[in-house]
Amino acid sequence: MRAIQITELTGPATALKLVDMAEPDAAAGHPMTPGEGVVVDVAAAGVAFPELLQTRGEYQIKPDLPFVPGSEVAGVVRSASEGSGFEPGQRVAAFCMLGGFAEVAVAPVHFTFALPDSLDDAQGAALVLNYHTAHFSMVHRGQLRSGETVVVHGAAGGVGTASIQVAKGLGARTIAVVSSDEKETVAREAGADEVVRSDGDWKDEVLALGGADMVLDPVGGDRFTDSLRSLKENGRVVVVGFTGGSIPEVKVNRLLLNNTSVIGAGWGASVLGNPALVKATGDAIAELIEQGFVRPPVGAHFALEDAAAALELIDSRGATGKVVLDVA
Ligand SMILES: NC(=O)c1ccc[n+]([C@@H]2O[C@H](COP(=O)([O-])OP(=O)(O)OC[C@H]3O[C@@H](n4cnc5c(N)ncnc54)[C@H](OP(=O)(O)O)[C@@H]3O)[C@@H](O)[C@H]2O)c1
Repeated sequence: MRAIQITELTGPATALKLVDMAEPDAAAGHPMTPGEGVVVDVAAAGVAFPELLQTRGEYQIKPDLPFVPGSEVAGVVRSASEGSGFEPGQRVAAFCMLGGFAEVAVAPVHFTFALPDSLDDAQGAALVLNYHTAHFSMVHRGQLRSGETVVVHGAAGGVGTASIQVAKGLGARTIAVVSSDEKETVAREAGADEVVRSDGDWKDEVLALGGADMVLDPVGGDRFTDSLRSLKENGRVVVVGFTGGSIPEVKVNRLLLNNTSVIGAGWGASVLGNPALVKATGDAIAELIEQGFVRPPVGAHFALEDAAAALELIDSRGATGKVVLDVA
């Protein structure tokens, strides 16, 4: 099969190589669930920030070189272990953790989800990492309730657009924070109720809109203090990532002034050993798809062999919605 490998840790422009290699061994299953798994003929592979970090050896998962990156795919089941509930030929979205930038990938059974016809393959490749992270972060960690207001940073990005759609589906009002006109359009199309600009006086605009019950933050950096200041009483900032580069520090006196919580959300770490949580989240997202709230926006398509360009788009802050490799 054709696949993309990371062969050295020199960044997206030089770290990747297109190779011909053996297909995964169905009998071996997935490394997380030895002997069990779903083998998928990949139609589309999702590209995300972690793969960019992996080209530099900066992500927490550091496989031996060379390895095939790619945490999520959409495609058709080729084979599935007995009792999995999946049939050959069925359309699925799956989280394989690694190995997705390839014509054939294998995922654990509990990380494989039926893909409804209302979503195309590229949207399926956008479904697991970002939407499960959004749901886990806002519902399980942030305790989001219907009627609350959520500020979403990086709102035109993958996690950002997913968070807008999940929050809307849960009955919350969303205020998107973005850095450009193009990203404002993407955030509005994703369903944001209000949009403010990260280079403007966004904190005061949020306060003028009534303030936030929750700030969902995949960006970090120097806007963090203003995130705390934009909260209402009993507000929560949910920390998801640090695309802005720096890791913020909190003066904890700010937390008691307004009964504020700062909450970490590490989806990967929490769910890997918790199939029941993965299933519950998958069911909740399936319902949001059926209700029309979840429609992943795909901002860019690349061929498998152009994976480097896909990662460079993310690296340059140019990505909107999900970046996808069209594999078949
Ligand atoms: N905690 C978890 O479990 C979990 C799970 C999945 C992903 N993540 C993390 O969440 C973060 C976001 O991932 P994503 O897939 O949404 O990324 P993305 O699609 O590239 O979006 C990131 C957004 O961050 C903003 N940003 C601000 N400063 C930036 C900079 N210097 N460089 C790049 N972007 C910058 C950009 O929005 P503006 O230009 O509008 O500011 C951009 O749209 C990543 O750090 C990822 O590792 C965490």
